Amino acid sequence: MFARSALRAASKPTAAASPLLQRFTYATAATSHPAHFSAQAVEQANPHGMEISKAQRIAEDGFWSAIGNTPLIKMNTLSKQTGCTILGKAEFQNPGGSVKDRAAKFLVQDAEEKGLLKPGGTVVEGTAGNTGIGLAHVCRNKGYKMAIYMPNTQSQGKIDLLRLLGAEVYPVPAVPYDNPDNYNHQAQRHAERLDNAIWTNQFDNIANRQAHIETTGPEIWAQTGGKLDAFTCASGTAGTIAGVTRYLKTVSEGRVKCYVADPPGSVIYTYVSSGGKMTERKGSSITEGIGQGRITENLKPDIDLLDGALHIPDEKSIEMVYRCLDEEGLYLGASSCLNVAAARDLAEKMGPGHTIVTILCDGAYRYADRLFSRKWLESKGLVNAIPEHLHKYIVLE
Ligand SMILES: Cc1ncc(COP(=O)(O)O)c(C=O)c1O
Repeated sequence: MFARSALRAASKPTAAASPLLQRFTYATAATSHPAHFSAQAVEQANPHGMEISKAQRIAEDGFWSAIGNTPLIKMNTLSKQTGCTILGKAEFQNPGGSVKDRAAKFLVQDAEEKGLLKPGGTVVEGTAGNTGIGLAHVCRNKGYKMAIYMPNTQSQGKIDLLRLLGAEVYPVPAVPYDNPDNYNHQAQRHAERLDNAIWTNQFDNIANRQAHIETTGPEIWAQTGGKLDAFTCASGTAGTIAGVTRYLKTVSEGRVKCYVADPPGSVIYTYVSSGGKMTERKGSSITEGIGQGRITENLKPDIDLLDGALHIPDEKSIEMVYRCLDEEGLYLGASSCLNVAAARDLAEKMGPGHTIVTILCDGAYRYADRLFSRKWLESKGLVNAIPEHLHKYIVLE
């Protein structure tokens, strides 16, 4: 809303405008790239009342309102190769560096609105990844204490980052979910022991999915002007795939096709493609933050809306890590590249002329020591999955 009124104002300069404002007005309203900047073009391309780009507004509430409104990047080479328009939502541009900032914001906001979390309170979560980073940022911003339980198999780098963001970190023995000492159960018990504390429970707390119904889905719809044919992304907690699917199916009255993408070692692919009859779990994956052994509460309400599932082996994901870097200039983590590979498979399935949107969950920064290490790639048997001419990017031992 802010962006629309600001742009409208910018297109109608007043005599009292300062030279700086006049220059700004000229640059925004009469640029040589009118599709990006003129108020009229924005109004036409965006009749749904959504902001289009972070660059066009001030995040008035600081960190809090800097979450979301990420660009939708056209993947030019892949689009040319497939004859489709492949668009990636640049979630790595969130302040915590991933799509999980959105979930973190909504999980905390929901607890505040329900009166479960008051000033000075504590947020507890079991997480080894991006949700912890997002929550730690949110807690810093809001002045809450933060405690994170994670398996003690995680890297020192991750633990250091979370401590640096002010979280208490509890690395505990890595035991299966059905063991009461699993890190998730320990996180829950920690919150129960304290007053004014919540266990955010990202997998089964549907405030996570709500973040994507209220923000990611509407942003995609507005950014494409409703002109998209399909959406695909993987499922970790399933907040993203469920929330975006729910929104796009509703707003397009079922027209937009939605496919969940799934790595090896996850049950979602067999569950969806067998119509809910099977949950087969085979193999394991190099991807982090995605793949699931059960149907979470976030996925349950929307799983029947899905049009299908795409199984993406690690070979395709790692190839795409290198291709995105070389062909698109995008430095992306493996889950993002699994999503891009799924978008390509969907383009091939649907045929030329379609617009397909996916999620670029985070950058490769946190995974570089593995994704670009020859030794690590060899240990996973993945060197040959990378096209020969891209081996120049395998720069680590
Ligand atoms: C890197 C990465 N990609 C994808 C996801 C999956 O997102 P969601 O939990 O919304 O399914 C996660 C979740 O933690 C993640 O960390």
